[in-house]
Amino acid sequence: MAPTPQLPPITSDHMDSLLAGTRLRRNRRTDWSRRLVRENVLTVDDLIWPIFLVDGEKVRQPVPSMPDVVRVSVDEAVREAERATRLGIPALALFPYTDPDLRDDMGTEALNSENLTCRALRAIKAEGFNIGLMTDVALDPYTSHGHDGLMNGETILNDETVDQLCRQALVQADAGADVIAPSDMMDGRIAAIRQSLDALGFRETQIMAYSAKYASAFYGPFRDAVGSSGTLIGDKRTYQMDPANTDEALRETELDIAEGADMVMVKPGMPYLDILRRIKDTYQVPTYAYQVSGEYAMIKAAGTNGWLDEERAMLESLLAFKRAGANGVLTYFAPRIAEFLAGEK
Ligand code: PBG
Repeated sequence: MAPTPQLPPITSDHMDSLLAGTRLRRNRRTDWSRRLVRENVLTVDDLIWPIFLVDGEKVRQPVPSMPDVVRVSVDEAVREAERATRLGIPALALFPYTDPDLRDDMGTEALNSENLTCRALRAIKAEGFNIGLMTDVALDPYTSHGHDGLMNGETILNDETVDQLCRQALVQADAGADVIAPSDMMDGRIAAIRQSLDALGFRETQIMAYSAKYASAFYGPFRDAVGSSGTLIGDKRTYQMDPANTDEALRETELDIAEGADMVMVKPGMPYLDILRRIKDTYQVPTYAYQVSGEYAMIKAAGTNGWLDEERAMLESLLAFKRAGANGVLTYFAPRIAEFLAGEK
């Protein structure tokens, strides 16, 4: 029989030394152990890839404020969709750069079933790829004033805009959109769009609501990409949310869920992780974050200058969304992350 080891008597001094024996670093010491205790992981299934469309053929046009992001013509968009499918990315989000000649104060081109978005939808759908196609519902890529809605003087009209958005959503659904994503922040648009879709037989078309969308400076490069930064008159603060607010984000989300949203979204992403966490904790619905153009541009710019490790910053920023409760992220890094994740296997 082995002798019983002599344990020191437990004294209050000893309790202190037991606490001192709590060493959280023990679990972090080795790679296998870090993997074993890891609470969140980023996978390709978390990615939604926003792509920009432009007229023409075989066009790949760089967006200067978004390095490595290009506007693509419809034929090239089909190739991007093929690439995304091969990489396992679940969905694409389509955004058009509309020819300035086609923009007017009503955003009429949004209702044209032959507009860029609709042509891209049909062309990609014709290939039968296993990938979801999301489309943005808002008038800004089509209006001469760059606003998401119809205007009367300086005022953005709510209900008149909602009517127009319903028609836009129907045109997109008819062209093959799987997920309608209203990004306009008009009141009541989710209910109205849901009703219109159902009435015309698009009962299976999903809605991802931009529920908590803030009037943010981080959309700058996107507005370059869709060509609305030069045209935008004033700002969007009478319809997009005040960055100071968080309770209001819950009210917006609650309404969108009640009105029939299948999924909700917070936008921008990284500066609004607190909103994401609150929404996820409160509603437990599929919740997404949009890592917007300005966030992308910041990481790219710092990376290009050698001020931070771009790849690590990219992966860390995406993991942060998962930790904050996101079920997925719209990110311009999507194909690169998917490639990185595939290479690791
Ligand atoms: C259009 C829309 C915007 C974005 C997505 N949809 C811009 C805006 O509201 O001005 C921003 C996306 C990004 O910055 O990456 N309503």
